[in-house]
Amino acid sequence: MKIAICPGSFDPVTLGHLDIISRASRLFDKVIVAVLCNTSKNPSFTVEERIGLLKEVTKDYANVEVDSFSGLLVDYAKEKGAVAVVKGLRAVSDFEYEFQMSMINKKLYPEVETVYLNTSQDYMYLSSSVVKQIASFGGDISNFVPASIHRKIVERLQKNS
Ligand code: PNS
Repeated sequence: MKIAICPGSFDPVTLGHLDIISRASRLFDKVIVAVLCNTSKNPSFTVEERIGLLKEVTKDYANVEVDSFSGLLVDYAKEKGAVAVVKGLRAVSDFEYEFQMSMINKKLYPEVETVYLNTSQDYMYLSSSVVKQIASFGGDISNFVPASIHRKIVERLQKNS
């Protein structure tokens, strides 16, 4: 059973994330979408809310699970018996950081591979921060987040602004 981890902040999940998760679910037997708990970033959604949104948008994928983790990603990957960490690459600007992370993770735990999927063209420009900024100013985010969670995200982000 080949297990992959899709790690991230998912604050909130976007169509770009879902694109990567769904493509990973075709490549691996099981995909665990793992929300990072101990982030230094100041999140807009609690870990429980982010997990709830992710569960909602992945409910039709039989081999996708949603979970959270704290500490090192490689320790979590080891605990879950994962063979790969799957990340989306949007642009050259993502590369340097991702490259450093994959090198460090490889040193810490050589058994796990980092697999990059190029983001689909439609989502090259998309990020959770862009979604948050647009929604907080009352802009239309319907092209950026899954329809099933659109209302929840708008309600929360407008409340915060
Ligand atoms: O969605 P993000 O914020 O780009 O996700 C980043 C994430 C969660 C993949 C990364 O911050 C991470 O793996 N954090 C866990 C701590 C860790 O293992 N760091 C690498 C060694 S310093």
